[in-house]
Amino acid sequence: MVKMPEEVMDMFNEWDASKTIATADAEGKLNVAPIKTFSVVDEETLAFGYVFPGKTKDNMEATKKVAVTAFKGSTGYQIKGSFQEFLISGPIFDQKKEQVKEKLKLDAKSAGIIKVEEVYSVSPGPDAGKKLA
Ligand SMILES: Cc1cc2nc3c(=O)[nH]c(=O)nc-3n(C[C@H](O)[C@H](O)[C@H](O)COP(=O)(O)O)c2cc1C
Repeated sequence: MVKMPEEVMDMFNEWDASKTIATADAEGKLNVAPIKTFSVVDEETLAFGYVFPGKTKDNMEATKKVAVTAFKGSTGYQIKGSFQEFLISGPIFDQKKEQVKEKLKLDAKSAGIIKVEEVYSVSPGPDAGKKLA
């Protein structure tokens, strides 16, 4: 079980941090998309509000593997993990739906759930690329 350090969770919960998700299709073709609504469910799990299903959804369902970054200023973190499911009801979905409505004025179709498997620093400096968990 990999647990995100506190500072990593804080960054993923920070609305003003930039966040991206990288995925790949079955042929290895890569895709990266900005997804701002990532937040922490627990130390091992991230969720995001999904409004515009596209290549990210197709790739997550096809290959499961994702890499997510969250960064602000010159501090950033990278998660590698596995797609678990898209929730369309329940408390996590309700929380994401509310956030997407409030912040983006849009309607989330689902909440994507990611299980964290590796955590890295991507901050420029001596810890760049360092594995944190
Ligand atoms: C700053 C920014 C934040 C975004 N946040 C979200 C988000 O939280 N949820 C979402 O569904 N789309 C979000 N988008 C839109 C997706 O990135 C967009 O739909 C993109 O085309 C993904 O498509 P793809 O999966 O086909 O690559 C955001 C876009 C930008 C520019």
